Amino acid sequence: INRIGVFTSGGDAPGMNAAIRSVVRTALYENKKVTGIYHGYQGMIDGEFIDMTSRSVSSIINKGGTVLKSARCLDFKTKEGRAKAYGNIKREGIDALVAIGGDGTFTGAQILSQEYDIPVMCIPGTIDNDLYGSDYTLGYDTANNTVIDAIDKIRDTAASHNRVFFVEVMGRDSGCIALQAGVGGGAEAILLPEKETAIVELIDLLEHAEERNKSSMIVIIAEGDKNGGVYNVAKHVKEKFEHFDIKVSILGHLQRGGAPSSFDRVLATRMGYTAVRELLKGNSGATVGIRGIDMITTPLDEALNNREFKLNEELLEIAKVMSF
Ligand code: F6P
Repeated sequence: INRIGVFTSGGDAPGMNAAIRSVVRTALYENKKVTGIYHGYQGMIDGEFIDMTSRSVSSIINKGGTVLKSARCLDFKTKEGRAKAYGNIKREGIDALVAIGGDGTFTGAQILSQEYDIPVMCIPGTIDNDLYGSDYTLGYDTANNTVIDAIDKIRDTAASHNRVFFVEVMGRDSGCIALQAGVGGGAEAILLPEKETAIVELIDLLEHAEERNKSSMIVIIAEGDKNGGVYNVAKHVKEKFEHFDIKVSILGHLQRGGAPSSFDRVLATRMGYTAVRELLKGNSGATVGIRGIDMITTPLDEALNNREFKLNEELLEIAKVMSF
């Protein structure tokens, strides 16, 4: 391997820049060259390449988003798209890839490496924390801190007006943020895509909270919750408790931005370093990850077939006890 291509793809996540920096500096340290690929797979197809030096990743460890930009690319799902991408990569002299992103990114990397026999290593970067092969994905910790900060602020106004707030947090398929931030933010109830919390159950919970003289309440709902969306849940609750002063707050994309936390910066740096070292050792078609305190790698086949939703059942139980 002489030249490694690095790119970010799919939804951005805090810590991606720290990972890019780490990939670049580790590769240069090992006397390899690095090409940055803009806009993920789309940039591969469109030929958006840039030679990376140590200076091109200066002062980005603390920045949210991704300096290499990101995209969701439909063309790459076609054989023709991938052929064009591989032609461009070859012309650039790129002979290995580090892909930073979520499950879509992993899938693209796996197909490309199988079709064209190019070594790839993936780094899990998504705030959703829904990838197998790593206890934590890049951006998850930062997003949780952002959500907790928002819940704290909502609590101030909820308490002042005796209101019931329904706060929607990100997680199309995963309730990790909802659970973690719900417990950390002291929510009265948490609705997750992984758990069918019937609205009757929620009403029951709120009824008990009211009996215990709670004057304001916060309910956290993951965007992937199966009860028809935050407004629908709020409507049903309002029908039951007409006297509740209900407000809905959708946190949306602000959860994806901001400076990465200390945890995400260090994790990203370790992951970038490990990805390059593993490639140079001959490992390929795998993702790096953290298990406990150790860096590990997992074959992409295994990671993609076990796409895991790491719902912590104990934490779920604790959340229920804490709302008592
Ligand atoms: O980054 C993951 C995620 O935040 C999901 O939870 C969410 O549904 C999705 O991205 C939305 O991303 P976009 O608006 O970029 O399609």
